[in-house]
Amino acid sequence: MLIRNDKVGDDPAIRRVVTDAFKMLAQSTGAEAAIVERLRDDDALVLSLVAEDEGEIIGFLAASKARAGKQDGWGLIGPLAVLPSRQRQGIGSALMAEALRQLRASSRGAALVGDPIYYSRFGFRAFSGLGVAGCPPEVVQALPFDSVEPHGELIHHPAFGLDQQE
Ligand SMILES: CC(C)(COP(=O)(O)OP(=O)(O)OC[C@H]1O[C@@H](n2cnc3c(N)ncnc32)[C@H](O)[C@@H]1OP(=O)(O)O)[C@@H](O)C(=O)NCCC(=O)NCCS
Repeated sequence: MLIRNDKVGDDPAIRRVVTDAFKMLAQSTGAEAAIVERLRDDDALVLSLVAEDEGEIIGFLAASKARAGKQDGWGLIGPLAVLPSRQRQGIGSALMAEALRQLRASSRGAALVGDPIYYSRFGFRAFSGLGVAGCPPEVVQALPFDSVEPHGELIHHPAFGLDQQE
C-alpha cells in the first residue's frame, strides 16, 4: 500500500472512495465528494493524498487552509475516507500520519471536525473557545504544532457550505 499525492486522472476514483465511505455514515450530508471537487476547482487543496493498493485507490484525505478566530495558518483535515471493504486495516491512520508530516512544514497545526474517539489517537483534542457554530464543541479538534493554542470559530473554506461569519 502506497500513500501519495493525487495526480491527474485520480478524480473519479477519489469521488468513488469518498462517496462509498460516507454512504455508511449516519451523519453524512452526501456532499463530501462535491466538497473535494469544489476545493480542487478553487485551488484550495493544501493536501490531496490517496492510498493506493495494486493500482486501486482505496483511501483519500484532503486538507485545506483554515482560520481559528484571527489565527491564520491552520490545516483543516477532511474529508478522510477509506473504502468500506478496506476499513480497519490502518489505511486511515497511514493517511493521517502522512498528512500531519506534510502539514508540519506549512501550518501552525492541524484541525478538523470529527469523532473524538477516532481522532484522539493522533493527538487531536478539543480546546476551550474553539468551535464551529452548530457543532458540539467536542467534535471540533486541533493538533497545534507549537505552543499557540487555537481559539475562536474554526473558519472553513466556503466549499464546506457552513455559511460562517467572517
Ligand atoms: C474513519 C475512517 C477514515 C477510518 O479509516 P480506517 O482505515 O478504517 O482507520 P484505521 O484502520 O487506521 O483505524 C481503525 C480504527 O479506528 C476505529 N474507527 C474507525 N472509524 C471510527 C469512528 N468513526 N469512530 C471511532 N472509531 C473509529 C476503528 O474502530 C479501529 O479501531 P480498532 O482497530 O482499535 O478497532 C473510515 O472508517 C471511513 O472512511 N469512515 C467513513 C467516513 C468517515 O467517517 N470519515 C471521517 C469523518 S470525520
